[in-house]
Amino acid sequence: MKYIISATNRPESNSRIVAGILQKIYKNFNCSTEIISLRDVSFQKLIDNPYPQTLPENVRQVILKLNTSSAFTIVCPEYNGSFPGIFKFFIDHWTYPETFEYRPIAFVGLGGRFGGLRPIEQLQQVMGYRNAFIYPERVFLQNIDNLLSDGEIIDQEIMSLLNQQAEGFLKFIEALEEKKLSASTRN
Ligand SMILES: Cc1cc2nc3c(=O)[nH]c(=O)nc-3n(C[C@H](O)[C@H](O)[C@H](O)COP(=O)(O)O)c2cc1C
Repeated sequence: MKYIISATNRPESNSRIVAGILQKIYKNFNCSTEIISLRDVSFQKLIDNPYPQTLPENVRQVILKLNTSSAFTIVCPEYNGSFPGIFKFFIDHWTYPETFEYRPIAFVGLGGRFGGLRPIEQLQQVMGYRNAFIYPERVFLQNIDNLLSDGEIIDQEIMSLLNQQAEGFLKFIEALEEKKLSASTRN
């Protein structure tokens, strides 16, 4: 399964809306995806008892999905020049190497003037450090509040960038799988 992570737990998040738009794009390429929204993951037990020997079952199940995924796209907003703290908290409970290593990962950023450039570049550092296969073509959604209207992106140029990324990412995953290089196909 391929996943789309909406990297914040903010209520009524734009990232979650963008994740939904992406899911439709992937569907048009005959690719089914599942959205993992941090809004739907309760971190309370983990906040009370962080880095436990045994993860709370709900969080363990989500991480298991990522660990057995063929790839994922991270949709991430900019919060104070970075990615949301809750996402780093989540990442810091992933397992290394299982979640990260040789995992194909694509990025969509969103924010104000810079469209989430900073959080995505920081995430690329984190995922790169952990040996993920980073898809190089990123998409940045600038002035996100003006870009979204009734849950849609009207700007056709942006839509075509998202389509182009999805199409290319699927080929990237397929190529890695064919050579048994990606996390889900390595021995
Ligand atoms: C806590 C917080 C901090 C933010 N900091 C920035 C920022 O540093 N730069 C920026 O361009 N936008 C910033 N924004 C605007 C968000 O990127 C924008 O509102 C986006 O929609 C947030 O994603 P979300 O709707 O999925 O939570 C911030 C928003 C929040 C809630």
